[in-house]
Amino acid sequence: MCGIVGYIGTQAATEILLSGLEKLEYRGYDSAGIATIWEGKIDCVRAKGKLYNLRSKLEQLETPAPIGIGHTRWATHGKPEEYNAHPHMDSSKQVAVVQNGIIENYRELREKLKAEGCQFVSDTDTEVIPHLIAKLLKESPSPSVPFSPSPFLEAVLKAVKELEGAFALAVISADYPDELIVVRQQAPLVIGFGQGEFFCASDTPAIIGYTRAVLPLENGEIARLTPLGVEVYNFAGVRLKKHPRLLNLNPMIVEKQGFKHFMLKEIYEQPGVVRACLEAYLNNDWNAENSAESPIKLGLPRELYADLEQIQIVACGTSWHAALVGKYVLEQLAGIPTQVQYASEFRYAPSPLTANTLVIGVTQSGETADTLAALGMEKERRSGKEAKYQARLLGITNRPESSLGHMVSHMINTMAGIEVGVAATKTFVAQLIAFYALALDLAYLRESISHQRLQEIINGLRQIPRDIEANLESQERYIEHLVHDFAETTDFIFLGRGINFPIALEGALKLKEISYIHAEGYPAGEMKHGPIALLDAKVPVVAIAMPGSVYEKVLSNSQEAKARDSRLIGVTPANDGEAAEIFDNIIPVKVVEELLSPILTVIPLQLLAYHIAARRGLDVDQPRNLAKSVTVE
Ligand code: M6R
Repeated sequence: MCGIVGYIGTQAATEILLSGLEKLEYRGYDSAGIATIWEGKIDCVRAKGKLYNLRSKLEQLETPAPIGIGHTRWATHGKPEEYNAHPHMDSSKQVAVVQNGIIENYRELREKLKAEGCQFVSDTDTEVIPHLIAKLLKESPSPSVPFSPSPFLEAVLKAVKELEGAFALAVISADYPDELIVVRQQAPLVIGFGQGEFFCASDTPAIIGYTRAVLPLENGEIARLTPLGVEVYNFAGVRLKKHPRLLNLNPMIVEKQGFKHFMLKEIYEQPGVVRACLEAYLNNDWNAENSAESPIKLGLPRELYADLEQIQIVACGTSWHAALVGKYVLEQLAGIPTQVQYASEFRYAPSPLTANTLVIGVTQSGETADTLAALGMEKERRSGKEAKYQARLLGITNRPESSLGHMVSHMINTMAGIEVGVAATKTFVAQLIAFYALALDLAYLRESISHQRLQEIINGLRQIPRDIEANLESQERYIEHLVHDFAETTDFIFLGRGINFPIALEGALKLKEISYIHAEGYPAGEMKHGPIALLDAKVPVVAIAMPGSVYEKVLSNSQEAKARDSRLIGVTPANDGEAAEIFDNIIPVKVVEELLSPILTVIPLQLLAYHIAARRGLDVDQPRNLAKSVTVE
């Protein structure tokens, strides 16, 4: 997590750094800070909380400094206080460092440096780095970079070799005011090339307003940025030939467009997102009678699917919920046994290797450290094995240019556009569409369902954007009114079964993360095995009951909750007499076939979470303790 930026050139750095940090606030917003060099000294300004606190502090410090680094923090080591905010400096204030990641061996380094007289003023892991670099700068250099152009580069490279963990760094030194050194080791870092000016950042949106020529560093690379150019080296000190590439993105101007919060705007964008995905994934010329090619065009090579025996999916959070829906459709439509694992668990307890397995990493950001590590591990442990065990990796992401994009050779782009709200909404629905497309493609190739059935599902999918539109406004009006009743509520239960069980989990996660209300998602049939003891008149139950194989079952499970005095809210079609009798409130959802219903049932749950949080006056788009992109373990 955390976002880092850097600038070296001819303009005043401060505003460039601040505007970069604004674009990176999704990576953390516990504190922010910048350090610039002017008249031979480093000016470092930091502030607790959101970026606007830093901005107002900086109003008093106008400097034309043409070099600087900046940071927006998601706290890992040490509380979110100003003294833990980056940049961190050495005791003599000659070196300043911003870091994204975790230095795993910081305790040993700290003890060693303390014993050598360094004074530590923060609780962070990062602070060891400026002390280490300052110490190495004082020692007489023994170059490890052949023809080393700079003792500063030398010192940073030596320091990096002592660091363990996953990190990206930007470093400046008052003694070397024309050099900005950046490092990438398992955490993202891109360099931007301007005219006589150079940028670095954790992510492209921070620099795309200034240049479209970018060079993403690879793991184990260090670069020296000066006003004259950029030199890239590997950690062995060998200079590498690297060229920037042009991003074909427009500057990402993301506005609320009249909505009170990005999350609400993003909920309303969902019909358009589904349309864009269907447009990209569906073969318009296909019909059940004319079926010489797949109805799906994902651009994936057939060898990815050849003799497939198993699918292994790794993901975190909301992406993990999308993967559970994915499992359902991959098994039920394509008939392929599918496992879904939390990436953070899988990486330390992987399942035994299976042959002919497609490994899918689902991550909207493409930067989630656990998901990347799990995929990296699969790549590693399958390499050198006989052909049937070799890695077949597929990524499902909203950011094809991300670290995931570098790691896998095949991708499904979910095309939801930049999602700003920390709570994932439109990217979840886009991930669902990606899974439907994948399952249908496989079902077609494996002939596991008839062409007639394929056609029915595709027709249903094509209708979904209009179904969402038909639901959205009436659901929102109803929910806005309904949430008045939950002003004091402290616990919620969400129930679902079958393909809608993951939606119960997702509804609970949305509510937890933005309203801070305790919520549990449960398979409706499991309540009686324990959790039903939680129920009473103070605990509302939201049940997803869509016509299909488990409809009657969910209604009976809801009755059981009602018998324990819970207020019952049904996410269910409006015109069912039985449901009308059971539920105290009905958030109506248009009837669609059960298989496609998650795309419709998740939206009222997003709206419910949104309106509860907004009514409580909470920071919906940047909820406490969270970050949009979780780049640490
Ligand atoms: O970028 P990713 O999809 O890999 O992110 C995974 C989770 O961190 C993410 O889904 C998180 O749970 C969201 N805040 C949920 O709204």
